[in-house]
Amino acid sequence: MTTAVQHRLDTSRIPAQRKFMESQASELLYSGAFAAGKSRIGCEKGLFLCLRYPGTVGVIMRKTFTSLRYTTMETFFRDVIPPELMARSSYNKVTNILTLPNQSRIFFLGIDEPLKIGGLEAGWIYVDEIVELNEDDYIMVLGRCRLTKLVGGEVLPFRQVFGTTNPGAPSHWLYQRAFVEGKIEIVESSTLDNPFLPPDYIEVLKGFTGRYRDRYVLGKWVGFEGLVYDNWDPATHWIEPFDIPVDWPRFRTIDFGFTNPFGCGWWAQVPPGKEEEYKEQGWKGFYLYREIYMSQRTVEVHARDIVRYSRDDPAVTATFSDWDSGDRAILEKNGVPTVAAKKDISSGIQEVYQAIDDNRIRIFKNSLVERDQELVNAKLPTCTVEEFPNYQWAEVPTGKNQKEIPRDKDNHGMDMVRYLIYSLGGRGSVQQVYTERRAAPRVPARSWGLMRGTGGRPRSWMRF
Ligand SMILES: Nc1ncnc2c1ncn2[C@@H]1O[C@H](COP(=O)(O)OP(=O)(O)O)[C@@H](O)[C@H]1O
Ligand SMILES: [Mg+2]
Repeated sequence: MTTAVQHRLDTSRIPAQRKFMESQASELLYSGAFAAGKSRIGCEKGLFLCLRYPGTVGVIMRKTFTSLRYTTMETFFRDVIPPELMARSSYNKVTNILTLPNQSRIFFLGIDEPLKIGGLEAGWIYVDEIVELNEDDYIMVLGRCRLTKLVGGEVLPFRQVFGTTNPGAPSHWLYQRAFVEGKIEIVESSTLDNPFLPPDYIEVLKGFTGRYRDRYVLGKWVGFEGLVYDNWDPATHWIEPFDIPVDWPRFRTIDFGFTNPFGCGWWAQVPPGKEEEYKEQGWKGFYLYREIYMSQRTVEVHARDIVRYSRDDPAVTATFSDWDSGDRAILEKNGVPTVAAKKDISSGIQEVYQAIDDNRIRIFKNSLVERDQELVNAKLPTCTVEEFPNYQWAEVPTGKNQKEIPRDKDNHGMDMVRYLIYSLGGRGSVQQVYTERRAAPRVPARSWGLMRGTGGRPRSWMRF
């Protein structure tokens, strides 16, 4: 069996993985960028140890069981354990314990399940995205790694806690423990070291600049001080797409531009009050699932595209737009009625910041409908995600509050995010916004663009 595993995994192509596999240090860390092969090698190593030493108890864990289940466990069961071995093993879906034919067992656990961790004695523990743990969690994990005698009576030659992670800020305890105090053996790898990735994925990552490139493409430990949204974390907020339930309210946000890019974002919201239903998947707040980010095109052309892209979507509840009245009139004439967004920068940013902190704003990795080559050539952001690392506070004379105004540059996606959150923010429900708009004589109710369903039948916004 061991040969089957080794055969499937080609570590010769990623030297860091080989080093990680061979290390017997009691604490080991694989620090690397996006898709640097971290979860894969962590799972491979765990399985290898269980096969090599029959009767071993191992643990695969992450901060929350939900995140483990949707990421690391996917990797383990889809890519790592060979189907023929899986067929001879048994997996208990209640306890989340996998028992291999040689009596080795692998526990799948979240740190958020303290009861299950209580009496555990493991020979090895693998923690994915270990940067999510606080130091107490980590010390607790170290304490659980104390199994010596195996089921068959043999003695385990070494115990090991191995973690994989995206880098964080240099002030993080893990950086201190591993890089400064030298208590953890380190292996490092960048995305560009992984030859197994599809070229289009590499292409997207090449769009990352500045400190995001350093951290998430090159795998360096850098901080995000000075960024307006220093809490925005692509590792958490830039996500794989999923099928959005049809009953989720939809919104659009529009930022005008011709020389600068024009932006239109399509958003879906987990219905307020229904978040409990999606707790297991961790879905909440708003998802940007589609966006136009394109320069040098007229508003008429954009309007046509917006209508076309929206065709198969559920009716949109509201389209919040930048204020240019001429452009808004053109949109309206071409089938895209809008509502003037609430635009206050300072309060808007505070609300967005809070929403990011609560993981209520996330962006689908495939949201961009078409990449603007002019922007690529000019080395400018080509979609909303790429703006975050460059969205910084403006320099102000000393003595003044530093954090008041962001630099007015590369902020089209940033404006769209703010229009959405701030236009809806604090009001709790769409109904309230709607009522307010009705009271304002200049904007007729049909401007909401929500009276028609996909089949052209009148449809009430109330259904949201
Ligand atoms: N040695 C390898 N051989 C084959 N495929 C690999 C290898 N290492 C990683 N991969 C593949 O590369 C992709 C990214 O790896 P993954 O471990 O998920 O990255 P990370 O956890 O660092 O984001 C996955 O599809 C994974 O299966
Ligand atoms: Mg991973």
